[in-house]
Amino acid sequence: MKFFADTAVVEEIAELNELGIVDGVTTNPSLILKSGRDILEVTKEICDLVDGPVSAEVVATTADEMIAEGRKLAKIADNIAVKVPLTWDGLKACKTLSSEGNMVNVTLCFSANQALIAAKAGATFISPFIGRLDDINLDGLDLIADIRTIYDNYNFKTEILAASIRTVNHVSECARIGADVMTAPPSVIKKLASHPLTDNGLEAFMKDWAKTGQNIL
Ligand code: G3P
Repeated sequence: MKFFADTAVVEEIAELNELGIVDGVTTNPSLILKSGRDILEVTKEICDLVDGPVSAEVVATTADEMIAEGRKLAKIADNIAVKVPLTWDGLKACKTLSSEGNMVNVTLCFSANQALIAAKAGATFISPFIGRLDDINLDGLDLIADIRTIYDNYNFKTEILAASIRTVNHVSECARIGADVMTAPPSVIKKLASHPLTDNGLEAFMKDWAKTGQNIL
């Protein structure tokens, strides 16, 4: 499963990149607001830092305007994935932009049928929002499993990009189900390395080591 960083904060991406675990980045208007940066400038910086797809989202609501914005965003770098919302106009923009050779990430997906029609419209990535379904007492992971089954039934090449990930359990469950990609906030990605038994075990080893009076270096 590929790991995308769900942030527009360059420093956070650079920190994760030290481990070589950033396969791509996703941004959205809310994350651009949070970064406090200009969308074109910060997206360019991110594209220079990361080799994989960097999603940059359009903000228009009509197909023609989304296409114009998408073309402008795609010019930032070769690894831009233009992100469009899962509306009828968004699907029209997806069809045009992907036909022109751009990667397209169709976002705000909340149903298997939405994922199906996005794949047929040429989406490179489909972004089902797990956490927001959980927020309304539905099961976001069930949606990932349903989309996996449907895409595999018909050999769709659209990659399932699990988004709105809030917990480390979301990450392991997405990997178990077979999502192609998960995008998570850096704070969640860093938590993947944590376990209290690792901390306890290390503390005990350090205490015993101190008693030996030895040094390795
Ligand atoms: O990748 C989508 C993500 O940024 C939305 O997350 O937690 O606002 O639902 P959230």
